[in-house]
Amino acid sequence: MIKVAVTGACGKMGGLIIENVQKSAELKLVCAIDVTNIGKDIGEVMKTGKLGVPVSDANDIENVLKISKPDVLIDFTIAQAAVKNVTACARNKVNLVVGTTGFTKDMRSLMDKEISENSISAVISPNFSIGVNVFWGLLAEAAKRLGDDYDIEIIEAHHNQKKDAPSGTAVKAAKVISDTLGGKELVYGRYGLAPRHKEIGIHAVRGGDIVGDHTVLFAGDGERIEIKHQAHSRQAFAKGAVRAAVWICAAKPGIYEMADVLEIK
Ligand SMILES: NC(=O)c1ccc[n+]([C@@H]2O[C@H](COP(=O)([O-])OP(=O)(O)OC[C@H]3O[C@@H](n4cnc5c(N)ncnc54)[C@H](O)[C@@H]3O)[C@@H](O)[C@H]2O)c1
Repeated sequence: MIKVAVTGACGKMGGLIIENVQKSAELKLVCAIDVTNIGKDIGEVMKTGKLGVPVSDANDIENVLKISKPDVLIDFTIAQAAVKNVTACARNKVNLVVGTTGFTKDMRSLMDKEISENSISAVISPNFSIGVNVFWGLLAEAAKRLGDDYDIEIIEAHHNQKKDAPSGTAVKAAKVISDTLGGKELVYGRYGLAPRHKEIGIHAVRGGDIVGDHTVLFAGDGERIEIKHQAHSRQAFAKGAVRAAVWICAAKPGIYEMADVLEIK
């Protein structure tokens, strides 16, 4: 049985991940960590019935990990919190699945350093859905075939609670395309006098309960291609994160992407 800890346990993703862990025959929830609802049973917080796992305080994460001894921790929180949680896991030899987005380059370097220096295994991905991981591959293929002659715009839409913009998925889409084309300037939105050059434009829409839409437009003379992914439910991400948690416990120390888990690299 793989022992699982979840940070951001009381959040939208955390709750769904715990539901999936409960359904799995291979996984057992050993601790639920958050900064709210401390001491309450996580099942009661989720309104799914008592689970016998009280919410532990994220501020005390080092001790919580030492007592509950998870094999893997799944983190869907906010960037600053995730850096702290990753560091605590690395120093306590707990493997990681990190779904949190919005990291700066420095934050990501710090996490990578802690993971490598402490020889643990981690899957870090801004999107755990199978569809989006295939979508990134399609973007690389389209960019390779269309080359520099097509104008590229990325438009993403998410619910009105999302904190970071643009989405981690859109940032990764831009990176995949830019890497394929040998490096492109990124322009975030446009306002006022803003003539288009050979950049990739990135635009973030926020509203209602949109789970996550990403459209990449390749526009040329007299035609355009749109490659689009739409998530209908957060279950697409939660299922992928739980699959990654099982996979990472059997992996060699290192930092992996969801494409490694899905074997589509
Ligand atoms: N990788 C993916 O597939 C994927 C999919 C969906 C969302 N996300 C990302 O996951 C993150 C969470 O999304 P959400 O919609 O569940 O947000 P949410 O706001 O519903 O939940 C975040 C939870 O984290 C908790 N939290 C804050 N600080 C904490 C800390 N220090 N330690 C532990 N918990 C803490 C909050 O109290 C909250 O319960 C965001 O960064 C989002 O962009 C990633």
